[in-house]
Amino acid sequence: MIVAVDGPAASGKGTIARAIARHYRLPHLDTGLLYRAVAATLLDRELDAEKEADAVASTDFDEALLADDRLKDDRIGKVASIVSAHPLVRAALLQRQRRFAQQPGGAVLDGRDIGTVIAPGADAKLFVKATPMIRAQRRHAELRARGSTVSFDKVLADIRARDERDSTRSQAPLRMADDAVLLDTSFLSIDAAVQRAIALVEARTAAKAGTP
Ligand code: C5P
Repeated sequence: MIVAVDGPAASGKGTIARAIARHYRLPHLDTGLLYRAVAATLLDRELDAEKEADAVASTDFDEALLADDRLKDDRIGKVASIVSAHPLVRAALLQRQRRFAQQPGGAVLDGRDIGTVIAPGADAKLFVKATPMIRAQRRHAELRARGSTVSFDKVLADIRARDERDSTRSQAPLRMADDAVLLDTSFLSIDAAVQRAIALVEARTAAKAGTP
């Protein structure tokens, strides 16, 4: 079974995807980490994120980087959103994500274009959203807990800028797949959101199983 979980930054999609993977004992890939690893590599090499060639050259990142906590930094998230808009960067990371999705037994992937581009034939597709204010509150609390002194207004402005960049780019923009189900986590606790997500996956796969 392939489960696609898409949505904007801090919508809760990562937590939900991990919980679905645990529930069904499936491997999970946070595809945002791949773009973040490209961004970190580009910054380490002091290259220019706006230049497609520089960003593509940084797709040869060190695999160990994927486990590095530094990838969670907001600056890296911002640069990830710039490098991910380059078509050749997306092309360079495409096969790796497709292979992960198509492994025997299935997988759960979360990102922006899983249901639309990476795994359009996924058995269940969730589109997770929450209001920008609520997502900024979550991200702000997360950053404060990690020792950052960033202001709420800055976090909110960054979230809005990232939404705008991710949804207006020409290649694989953030958009809900036609056959995805919407899950708004704005007023749900983590537990409630996870339970709802699993119920939606169950309903979707049961409906598919019943289709002749
Ligand atoms: O999900 P996360 O915030 O870690 O993603 C970082 C950035 O990577 C996003 O803002 C987005 O621009 C990009 N991304 C993407 N496609 C994905 C996953 C992430 O373009 N499937």
